[in-house]
Amino acid sequence: MIARELVVIPSFAREVEEGLSRTPKSLPSKLFYDGPGSVLFEEITRLPEYYLTRTELEILRTRADEIALAAGPNIAVVELGAGTATKTTTILRAFAGKQIRTSYFPVDISPSALDDAKIHITMQCPTVRVRPVVADFSEGFGFLRDIPGRKLVLYLGSSIGNFDPENAVSMLSEVRKQLSQGDSLLLGTDLIKPSAILIPAYDDARGITAQFNRNILRRLNRELGTGFYVNAFRHVACWNAVRSRMEMHLQSQCRQTVSLGILGSKVNFSGGERIHTENSYKYTTDTVNKMLASAGFSLDETWFDHRKWFALNLARVSAAAKIADDSACG
Ligand code: AVI
Repeated sequence: MIARELVVIPSFAREVEEGLSRTPKSLPSKLFYDGPGSVLFEEITRLPEYYLTRTELEILRTRADEIALAAGPNIAVVELGAGTATKTTTILRAFAGKQIRTSYFPVDISPSALDDAKIHITMQCPTVRVRPVVADFSEGFGFLRDIPGRKLVLYLGSSIGNFDPENAVSMLSEVRKQLSQGDSLLLGTDLIKPSAILIPAYDDARGITAQFNRNILRRLNRELGTGFYVNAFRHVACWNAVRSRMEMHLQSQCRQTVSLGILGSKVNFSGGERIHTENSYKYTTDTVNKMLASAGFSLDETWFDHRKWFALNLARVSAAAKIADDSACG
């Protein structure tokens, strides 16, 4: 009998093949976050040039009491994409000081990150009851319905900025559909600023972001058996002023043909051709307001850091919400 080797094709493989056969070529940015990619991202958040994490934390630290007051008493705090919840202690402490019992529901796809979050929060805020939720957002936000009571949903770190505008509205609309009157959303958004500040944030002097970007090719080599020569691709970060977004690309340094491994095909690159790997949208108060309104929220209050580089937006579930895809006739 001939023993056949079973080749398991990862679910993202077709997306990779499709993205690389398009013009311009692209790869989905969700592929950044494997083990090594998540470690690199943590390192990015500590870089001097990457102001986003530090700036959002400044707002959380200086405005926690105001945010807790505006959100109101007796709410369950739910954090989407909580990771290890390192930023959340500040706000949870403010809530714990204002209500009898605070419940915190960190939501993430990674059970190990949630274990760390639980240990971290329990040590820093012993009165807060932590209830981790393992969920994959690509399967929707139905888990929000199972969380009892009035909710404040946190979506921090400018994660919304990695969605194209239509997808950002549909993601927020999906969240909105699972919420009720009285619930609210605290959304972290990065603001438009001079490209001299934006570009180094995505192209740092130590080259950590370049490693993070190229790691996507390492992952494809490991998980799909592709034949990318990683150093033949240069990290490019640029500001697209028309679309208000930072873009990351990988630029082929020469003409080359790369095998797509278990997918059984090949892809040709001309010298200088790019693979578009990420968009990171930057906003104004007005564009945030419009995005939230299209998703069925009304912007209530916005807090900024001292340089007005980043915003934390508190939005309520609109009374007369008209959610984008509910308006279709027939
Ligand atoms: C996760 N996300 C908000 C980061 C950002 O700034 O768009 C991802 C990142 N890409 C490069 N550096 C950081």
